[in-house]
Amino acid sequence: MSATPGGRSHGPPDDAAQARWVRETPGASKRRHLNNAGAALQSEPALRAVTGHLALEAECGGYEAAALQRDAIARVYEQVGALLGARPNEIAIASSATAAYAQALSAFDFAAGDGIVTTRADYLSNRIMFESLAARRGVRVVEVADLPAGGVDPEAVERELKASPAALVALTWIPTFGGLVQRAEDVGAICARYGVPYLVDACQAVGQLAVDVRAVQCDFLAATARKFLRGPRGIGFLHVSERALDAGRHPLLTDMRGGNWPATGTYTLYGGARRFEQWEMPHALVLGMGAAAAYATAQGIVETSRRAHALAAYARDRLGDIPGVRSLDRGERLSAIAAFECRGRKSSDLVTDLRARGINTSAQELDENLVALNRLEAASLLRVSPHYYNTAADVDALADALTELMASASARS
Ligand SMILES: Cc1ncc(COP(=O)(O)O)c(C=O)c1O
Repeated sequence: MSATPGGRSHGPPDDAAQARWVRETPGASKRRHLNNAGAALQSEPALRAVTGHLALEAECGGYEAAALQRDAIARVYEQVGALLGARPNEIAIASSATAAYAQALSAFDFAAGDGIVTTRADYLSNRIMFESLAARRGVRVVEVADLPAGGVDPEAVERELKASPAALVALTWIPTFGGLVQRAEDVGAICARYGVPYLVDACQAVGQLAVDVRAVQCDFLAATARKFLRGPRGIGFLHVSERALDAGRHPLLTDMRGGNWPATGTYTLYGGARRFEQWEMPHALVLGMGAAAAYATAQGIVETSRRAHALAAYARDRLGDIPGVRSLDRGERLSAIAAFECRGRKSSDLVTDLRARGINTSAQELDENLVALNRLEAASLLRVSPHYYNTAADVDALADALTELMASASARS
């Protein structure tokens, strides 16, 4: 984002690459999709991978189609691994980020008094799992302090690990709401120093940021395909580091994809992260996720990330100028997610009104996520999440529509 001579900011310019991204995104020319943190528009190659495999299954049978596509399915582990700087055998396919996260958590035999050290920006479902572990196993959930600017203070993590040993450190890299990017790598360096396992929720980070699991030094990293990665819904993955695999980590409830039953009273585990998978797989979605990962890598994640972030910054600028609209984003480093409170308006109603004008956004209400919204001091939150195929004109159209909707609401009140 840069400023014009008059001082007014404008978003990143469109170029030949942006025009190609729109051409390669079937939905992009039909609406202004600013809900990439919900589910992004799929690229043509991702869509083709899904529909092509469904057609093959219909034609020759599901098991037979899987056999025909064996090599392509094996390549998905390479495609996802390449995106993360991971080896293919460190990738497990899961039905969602939450399923992947639960598999990772189940690899720990938590006992009463064990500490899970976490931050103030947990994804809701992750936090419910921690609360359940506290209630059922007596785990201590320790929430460490934020930096004054927002986002976890890595020194507070270090102080906690020094003060009492922890069973696990957990961090949501980019929370669902609030535009924050947490210091995942700094926290990872501390975990490595203290020898504490590190679980990262990278659901909003994968496809949005350049992710290098070696730099993050995580033991587990969970993500989904449908968000900034631009894959289909209903599929995700878990990265399991070789360190965690070598330590023998495996989920509590392994199925026959992960192990074997050689004799009564025993079981064996297969090598690699596949021990975190389940046998039944939606291969069409798996192939779609692989195509999305390959597409993301081919576009150049550093460049696409820069553009998505510039568009979100532009949205903060434009929407922040609308009377009654307040940006909720805090943090040293902001993401491609921009969150707003629109005074006197329920955001879910605004989402419906905007959708009727061909603009996709999303909302969260207080009763759906009480703690997170209280922490942001918002009663209702409108989320705007552009991606690299969006344009400044998409943000301008949103700003114009929201200006009108806010003005008509204040005229009525
Ligand atoms: C930060 C974060 N983590 C995890 C999830 C859960 O992803 P899934 O629905 O694929 O389980 C989400 C979904 O919005 C998310 O934003």
